[in-house]
Amino acid sequence: MSEIKNKKQIKSKQRVADHGEVFTNEREVNAMLDLVKNESERIDSRFLEPAMGDGNFLAEVLNRKLNSVDVKYKNVQFEWERYSIIALSSVYGVDLLEDNAIECRNRLFQLFDSRYSNLFGEKCNESCKSSARFILNRNILWGDALDFTNPVTKKPIIFSEWSPVNGTLLKRRDFIFKFLVEKSHQFSMFNDEGNVGSIDEPVKDYPLIHFLKLGEEDAN
Ligand SMILES: C[S@@+](CC[C@H](N)C(=O)[O-])C[C@H]1O[C@@H](n2cnc3c(N)ncnc32)[C@H](O)[C@@H]1O
Repeated sequence: MSEIKNKKQIKSKQRVADHGEVFTNEREVNAMLDLVKNESERIDSRFLEPAMGDGNFLAEVLNRKLNSVDVKYKNVQFEWERYSIIALSSVYGVDLLEDNAIECRNRLFQLFDSRYSNLFGEKCNESCKSSARFILNRNILWGDALDFTNPVTKKPIIFSEWSPVNGTLLKRRDFIFKFLVEKSHQFSMFNDEGNVGSIDEPVKDYPLIHFLKLGEEDAN
């Protein structure tokens, strides 16, 4: 993971003092991910980093997932696209500092895009890149993982669950992060029938969409 090897572990002393921002180095990232090696290499395993920084762990998770995609699908472009979108859609992160969230998103996109370009060159589809961007904008968020809100707007952090359906379609369901974490919430939430609600209930449910059409949502 040469990407991390040459990377600085701190941005400034002030940020270390204010936010404890010290990035984990390559050796520790790999040693920790090796503790869950199979999961880190499984294309659709879900990972969430609640204080991701600019993504040292998430970048390596994506790297490992994309290695698995390459091994199986590098000779079939459509399948590589489909599985790399599934890999991206299962990686989540939050950071308190907005610049970290932006850098992490860009970093994960570059990781995906450089592999995609290396494999398929001029045959790469803009629609696939747009879908990748759309998912990263939804999955890699600027937020406070202690109170589960955006630090400025104070709106709740909402994560999207992406589930593949019938091969080429994706189902998106949105969940409030706080409710996913604080299981106690389920005892104070009631559903439409007046019964105790389940934390499994999404706040929004979207129609099925083709995995190469997600970027069109941005344009609308
Ligand atoms: C020690 S760094 C670790 C970064 C990354 N996980 C890594 O291992 O390279 C801690 C990170 O937590 C973030 N952070 C601090 N308080 C936070 C909070 N309440 N919610 C979300 N992120 C927070 C900081 O901005 C910083 O990026």
